Amino acid sequence: MDESQVVARLRAAGCVFAEEEARLLMSAARTPAEADAMVEQRAGGLPLEQVIGWAGFCGLRIAVDAGVFVPRLRTEFLVQQAVKLARPGDIVVDLCCGAGAIGAAIAAAVDRAEVHATEIDPAAVRCARQNVPGAVYQGDLYEPLPARLRGRVAVLTANVPYVPTGEIEFLPPEARSHEPRAALDGGQDGLDVLRRVAAAAPEWLAPGGHLLIETSDRQLPRAAAAFTASGLVPRVTSEEDLDATVLIGTLAAGSEAGEEPA
Ligand SMILES: C[S@@+](CC[C@H](N)C(=O)[O-])C[C@H]1O[C@@H](n2cnc3c(N)ncnc32)[C@H](O)[C@@H]1O
Repeated sequence: MDESQVVARLRAAGCVFAEEEARLLMSAARTPAEADAMVEQRAGGLPLEQVIGWAGFCGLRIAVDAGVFVPRLRTEFLVQQAVKLARPGDIVVDLCCGAGAIGAAIAAAVDRAEVHATEIDPAAVRCARQNVPGAVYQGDLYEPLPARLRGRVAVLTANVPYVPTGEIEFLPPEARSHEPRAALDGGQDGLDVLRRVAAAAPEWLAPGGHLLIETSDRQLPRAAAAFTASGLVPRVTSEEDLDATVLIGTLAAGSEAGEEPA
């Protein structure tokens, strides 16, 4: 297939950005046979990033394998907020790191940041280990982190699954069929994982440290209540063009691990 045939094939399959996607597919393929196979995968509904093997994120190329959550453009806003709060040499932890886009972008922007990331899905961990210039641990939320990080994390990021279970069926087929359910499903109100992250954050944050979580406007009141219940002072930031909302919770400068919130 030449490029115009690829564009026609992608357009017929419903790809909105057929020209751009054709160009990316043709440049990613090493042989004509591979190009044909990639075009068919894409026309069959596989996310473009999983076909070409990478996603653009904060100016970086993030390796993304088939079956791994594709980093979203809106999450660049979370990174921007984290970078504003981080200082050179800070310890940064990214939970639910997926392919590791957030940790990779923070490491690229913050001088000498010591980045640690955790993720439960082995396929995503394999990608994250290619992308994050830091330690990537496999396991449930905080469980695999080294104990020496307790009370020392300056910036804690977590783009957790936050789609309510009953709304998964309304997601675009690319997400529904080609991203793991555990990457999307946040439980009945979408906040199950967020609540667990917020509850344990004070054990890991340094005094004055920050937890940043992407959420939706609709979930904000309950998400903020979860932050407050764990002793974090919540603040909302949002960016309309990216349709991005990030909740930032700050641990009071005098707080210590294990201390009950007032
Ligand atoms: C919405 S995706 C976000 C991935 C990545 N942070 C990003 O923004 O591209 C959520 C990720 O959380 C992971 N995850 C879900 N539950 C987890 C848990 N209990 N512990 C660690 N990771 C978890 C999923 O496997 C998935 O990769």
